Amino acid sequence: MNLWTTPHKIVVTCLKRLSPFLEEELRALAFPVTRTFSNGVETTGTLTDCIRLNLELRCASQVLYSLKAFKAEHPGQVYDQLKGISWESVIEPSTYLTVTGSVTHPTVNNSMFINMKVKDAVVDRLRAKTGQRPDSGPDLKGAVVNLYWKEDIPEVFLDTSGETLAKHGYRLHPGRAPMMEALASATLMAAQWKGDMPFVNPMCGSGTLAIEAALMATGRAPGLYRDQYAFRHIKGYREEDYRAVREKLSQRVLPKLPHRIIASDISEGSIKQARFNARQAGVEEFIEFEVCDFAETSLPQPPAIIFFNPEYGERLGELQELEKTYERVGDFMKQKCAGYTGYVFTGNLDLAKKVGLKPQRRIEFFSAKLDCRLLKYELYSGSKRVNDQAVVS
Ligand SMILES: C[S@@+](CC[C@H](N)C(=O)[O-])C[C@H]1O[C@@H](n2cnc3c(N)ncnc32)[C@H](O)[C@@H]1O
Repeated sequence: MNLWTTPHKIVVTCLKRLSPFLEEELRALAFPVTRTFSNGVETTGTLTDCIRLNLELRCASQVLYSLKAFKAEHPGQVYDQLKGISWESVIEPSTYLTVTGSVTHPTVNNSMFINMKVKDAVVDRLRAKTGQRPDSGPDLKGAVVNLYWKEDIPEVFLDTSGETLAKHGYRLHPGRAPMMEALASATLMAAQWKGDMPFVNPMCGSGTLAIEAALMATGRAPGLYRDQYAFRHIKGYREEDYRAVREKLSQRVLPKLPHRIIASDISEGSIKQARFNARQAGVEEFIEFEVCDFAETSLPQPPAIIFFNPEYGERLGELQELEKTYERVGDFMKQKCAGYTGYVFTGNLDLAKKVGLKPQRRIEFFSAKLDCRLLKYELYSGSKRVNDQAVVS
């Protein structure tokens, strides 16, 4: 059976709460969505389809191609089942092998132990059939086999991604409290960013939001910034298929942007980093960078989007200072941004109340295990400040 041409179940994983946006992306690429859960979406396709998914999805973490689900009550049965798979038709014995997994089972209290069992099954099979055994280890630089085991049906996948797709590869200077690129993309999808109006990003830090906004608006796929994928180490891989997908993606890139993208930060160092990252991503020319207090940021004529990701604060002194900052953000949007749609992304829901405007929508996210909200404000000329109480849930 040729996995490159045989459709199977594919599970695309993502950071928690990104699955509605990942689902939207899969549908836009004309993949069927068979199931959606909090950190992933299930679809169907061949290994060849996995090339496109890896290169095109902005909100994904891993693209997992299912090989087999089976019943097992203990690790010994998992070993036996896995040794029965014809790994010799999937992995060259000269390929470096990594095993990863997500296992919650009463018979397993150590993930290293079960990963070792999986590795042993693959290696023992390859040695028996070919007389050679692959090198193995934790570096995601070759073929990757993934075991998912909850309750009594383990499932084994080929992880076609390797390193996570949630990092988009251009950000060499992450700066202070940066947003993960996949999360930034998802928040922009939540803000219905289509590139059809100006985008203003005060407090831009390392520039992730402005850069992702430029990438989306010019049709640059995240796969254009990375060359290392686990699918390239699976038997039957054809370099020409991969190059053809990359070529198609390059041809889709728009040379110009009809609207301004403005990114500002009070820190000169942050703007240096943001500019460097934008250059790495090939979108420096589309972003106007400014070093200034957020309230001095240039504002194009509305309609436009203004998107803030202020600090969340940890220490008390910091929090008191940040309360004032969030209040000022609210005042600024109310007084200066009439006709705009405003967004505030924050992991501190108490501070969010200090913005003092009534959000029209509150969209739930997670960032590094922190419960976060993206708050949407329609900024009419007469936007009212509201009482600090009960504005944010
Ligand atoms: C949480 S970080 C933004 C991170 C950004 N989204 C990223 O992915 O890198 C907040 C940024 O706000 C900036 N900042 C803080 N107070 C500011 C102010 N009054 N005016 C402008 N920028 C400010 C900080 O320098 C910091 O870079």
